[in-house]
Amino acid sequence: MSENITTIEEIISLCKRRGFIFQSSEIYGGLQGIYDYGPFGVELKNNLKGAWWKAIVYERDDVEGLDSSIITHRMTLKHSGHEDTFTDPLIDCRDCKHRMRADHVVNNKCDNCESQNLTEPRNFNLMFRTNLGPIDNGVNYAYLRPETAQGIFTNFKNVLDATSRKLPFGIAQIGKAFRNEITPKNFIFRVREFEQMELEFFVEPGTDEEWHQEWIKNRLKWWQSQGLSPENLKLQPQSASELAHYSKATTDILYRFPQGFEELEGIANRTDYDLGSHTKDQDNLKIFSKVSPNNNSTTKLGGLNSETKEYRLPFVIEPSGGLDRGVLAILTEAYTKEQLENGQERIVLKLKPHLAPIKIAVIPLARNNEKIVSKAKEIKQSLQKFGIGRIRYEDTGNIGKGYRRNDEIGTPLCITVDFDTFEGDTETVTIRYRDSMLQERIAINDLEKFIRNYFL
Ligand code: GAP
Repeated sequence: MSENITTIEEIISLCKRRGFIFQSSEIYGGLQGIYDYGPFGVELKNNLKGAWWKAIVYERDDVEGLDSSIITHRMTLKHSGHEDTFTDPLIDCRDCKHRMRADHVVNNKCDNCESQNLTEPRNFNLMFRTNLGPIDNGVNYAYLRPETAQGIFTNFKNVLDATSRKLPFGIAQIGKAFRNEITPKNFIFRVREFEQMELEFFVEPGTDEEWHQEWIKNRLKWWQSQGLSPENLKLQPQSASELAHYSKATTDILYRFPQGFEELEGIANRTDYDLGSHTKDQDNLKIFSKVSPNNNSTTKLGGLNSETKEYRLPFVIEPSGGLDRGVLAILTEAYTKEQLENGQERIVLKLKPHLAPIKIAVIPLARNNEKIVSKAKEIKQSLQKFGIGRIRYEDTGNIGKGYRRNDEIGTPLCITVDFDTFEGDTETVTIRYRDSMLQERIAINDLEKFIRNYFL
């Protein structure tokens, strides 16, 4: 029997205990809103990234990849609108000095001491500023990017020239983004350093609304294919007051996190806002809504329509998902507590096999038996070559403990080498399935075929 109510504390505890996610700089008291991914967290995160890249870049013929820099030119973020408008309203409690986002304050009370002695809201820019070079003269600064998208827009012409793409086509990027959030919270849900999986999909103006709907459907389906169940996912169009400064329409994909339904990904219609903002008005391009007259950019980020031969700025549809929020959603969905017949409780992460940090644990039943140990190591090395992900040799010396640990990190299969391995004409091992806990005996010679069928 399984129970589905998972608390954030249970997830945090599992992540620490089993090596998924740690508080950053913990030994010095920790950095608020910053986390490190441990041995199993990094595998899970890389697997989720890989699944996104496969679906967005490899399985389509209309998307190119990019990896642009994190440190971003000040002018990029000036003309994108972030320097002036990427702010959250900040309120201080005059009594306990606690700081809050004004839009998170309930009943005009401090959420730390309940005082109503609060300041008026003031705008706080979320971007981290840094210096280029050794001298801080107040003007040579740059920013850590608050979204990966701007690197895509500023490279639009480079990619277009290098690949000769025609509309519609997209540029995809996965990478770090930084926001000095006023109140980071809910573990890795709202943090100050995080990763985004972003696609900027450039389309002919006029076809944007149709493409927007297409991408909303596509992205919802993809999250389901990563194991999130339909009843835990919801689409929510943003109201006019919620829209970012660049957006004509945005629909959020919400997931039922432990704290309730919240945004996992946003799919925005950014129109020609960004390409226009980064284009200098040198050829009377004011006809486009956002072409910037005071811009010192050297490039027109548009192109000729091959039929009409007219210059135009593409519109862009942007599915932008949070990788860390994706990891949290997947952990929330997979975390399962089961009561076993013997009265004990089992915690198991029911991850899809392609996301599991460890695909197979190979366990020797007796760690002091040379023959068993070397056979287990040999199997680990040969399975590793199949390219399905990480296979782990697990030498706990206690088979029960080995299974429990692997259940908790979501390993779909354990292979045990025991004394029976060497009985009979062919060598055999036991395969134990994570979800059903069923075991079966299989010939070592058949392992490759079995594993390929299971994972690929
Ligand atoms: N380029 C568009 C953009 O950045 P956004 O809605 O601000 O849009 C996109 O961010 C996604 O990035 C969000 O849906 C969320 O998953 C993730 N994200 C945003 N802020 C975050 C934060 N402070 N911590 C973790 N993830 C965050």
